[in-house]
Amino acid sequence: MSSSSDHARRGLTRRDFLAAAGLAGVAVGLGAWPRAGRAAGPIALPPLPYDESALAPVISAQTIGFHYGKHHKGYVDNLNKLIQGTDLADASLEQIVKATAGVADKTAIFNNAAQVWNHTFYWNSLDPAGGAPSGRLASAIDAAFGGMDGLKKALKDISVGQFGSGWGWLVADAEGKLKVVKTPNAETPITQGLKPLLTVDVWEHAYYLDYQNRRADYVQAVLDKLLNWSFAARNYG
Ligand SMILES: [Fe+2]
Repeated sequence: MSSSSDHARRGLTRRDFLAAAGLAGVAVGLGAWPRAGRAAGPIALPPLPYDESALAPVISAQTIGFHYGKHHKGYVDNLNKLIQGTDLADASLEQIVKATAGVADKTAIFNNAAQVWNHTFYWNSLDPAGGAPSGRLASAIDAAFGGMDGLKKALKDISVGQFGSGWGWLVADAEGKLKVVKTPNAETPITQGLKPLLTVDVWEHAYYLDYQNRRADYVQAVLDKLLNWSFAARNYG
């Protein structure tokens, strides 16, 4: 089943999902980060933009069920408990991430908030229909990596090379130049002056049920079949 038919069946567009996720500002180049629910309400777990089985066989429904339903939800639940009654209780998710990055006594809040942000971005970085970049983004990929093969190799190498848990990212720097970066644990490029375009989760919970220790096979399959290039293009602007 395609993502577009999933959206139609659910009555959701991808932009609806992004708005619910608090990612609309990133995806469409707007500044504000809307929060789901009431302004003073808790940070919400956004709906998946596709069915749990939509990414199979690259990523199984079982993996998505645990990854989204347990891990991502767990970060949301932890974050809401941690910010309750604090001066961050009414902040947006992005504000929480940026306000707590590198602050020693806010590590737990940062870790959970950044993991909520990173996971929402990850679900949007994947598209059951796959595809290929085009236009200005394709030209930028050619300039930075010599084409898609070069990009895939660079993103695979940096993702597989992340020691322990973390993330591989395609980002644009302040000049709009594309590069790949890795971040450990919950770290995220949005605190480093970089604009994320796509990410690959390389925590073991992202692939262990399907690939066991074969992180490279998981990353290669995601890069070949699931990257959401329309999401990347919107983020690139
Ligand atoms: Fe994850």
